[in-house]
Amino acid sequence: MSVEIDHSARVVLVTGSGAGIGREIARWMARAGASVAVHDIRAEKTAETAALIAEEEGTARAFAADLRDDAAIDQLVADVVAWGGGLDIAVNNVGMMAGRPPARFVDMDGAYWRDLVDQNLVLTALCGRAEALAMMEQGGGVIINVSSGETTRPSPMMSSYAAAKAAINHLTWSMAVELGPHNIRVNAIAPGTTLTERVKEVFPPGHYDAIVAATPLRRETLPEELGRLAVYLASDLARCTTGQLILADAGAFLSRTRPPNLGQNAV
Ligand SMILES: NC(=O)c1ccc[n+]([C@@H]2O[C@H](COP(=O)([O-])OP(=O)(O)OC[C@H]3O[C@@H](n4cnc5c(N)ncnc54)[C@H](O)[C@@H]3O)[C@@H](O)[C@H]2O)c1
Repeated sequence: MSVEIDHSARVVLVTGSGAGIGREIARWMARAGASVAVHDIRAEKTAETAALIAEEEGTARAFAADLRDDAAIDQLVADVVAWGGGLDIAVNNVGMMAGRPPARFVDMDGAYWRDLVDQNLVLTALCGRAEALAMMEQGGGVIINVSSGETTRPSPMMSSYAAAKAAINHLTWSMAVELGPHNIRVNAIAPGTTLTERVKEVFPPGHYDAIVAATPLRRETLPEELGRLAVYLASDLARCTTGQLILADAGAFLSRTRPPNLGQNAV
């Protein structure tokens, strides 16, 4: 008997897949045979990801939308369903720092907090709602929310981001409970430090080495490793798994604090 993962005949939406982790998740879903709706606020980046998938003879369609607009979220899901004939798997990957620099707890005002909570918790919840409604109509599906390793330990300079991501972990439980009877599994994945282009730009000197030194496997997370994990979690190999947070962080959660001195660059 051989074991393989086959997502052919499945339609997948990956939000924020014009770059970074989302791009690799989209590419790995396509490698597993899925038809992939590549989404990003930056239309040119969606075209790049779709072209990378096409180069490997995968199937992809680019969709551009700013998810800060609630109506755009519903429209995006409706457009994907119209394109693919349904929605089987959705990865809610848009997040990060909404263009804000890391900041001390005492320096963050209401506007800062609202930006971070909107960009992470609210967008994930509203995407999940639109996706769940589409999946309920067709009898089931799989949702994966992208959380962060920052939720597993104290995060100096990142408290609003970590709190918003930690709320996604709890949301994932609640979604799993409410949507399970509709045959929808909901899990979260948590990247450790992942050197996407954006992250490379903002790390101060020495920060990368400090993170690696504090990690049992002595390494960062590669974007493609989130792709592999998402492909597995969305597959029937994980069909009994729902409401879980799965870390891909090289064991970083075992260190009780992240290295300080993240710097002040906007992320
Ligand atoms: N890189 C890391 O070290 C790391 C670690 C833990 C968790 N994460 C999480 O992983 C996810 C992806 O991170 P990344 O490093 O690949 O980020 P990234 O910035 O490289 O990619 C995110 C993509 O989302 C798009 N986007 C942002 N706001 C949007 C909006 N309002 N509407 C539509 N698209 C929008 C961006 O254009 C970008 O292409 C995020 O949720 C992030 O919080 C990242």
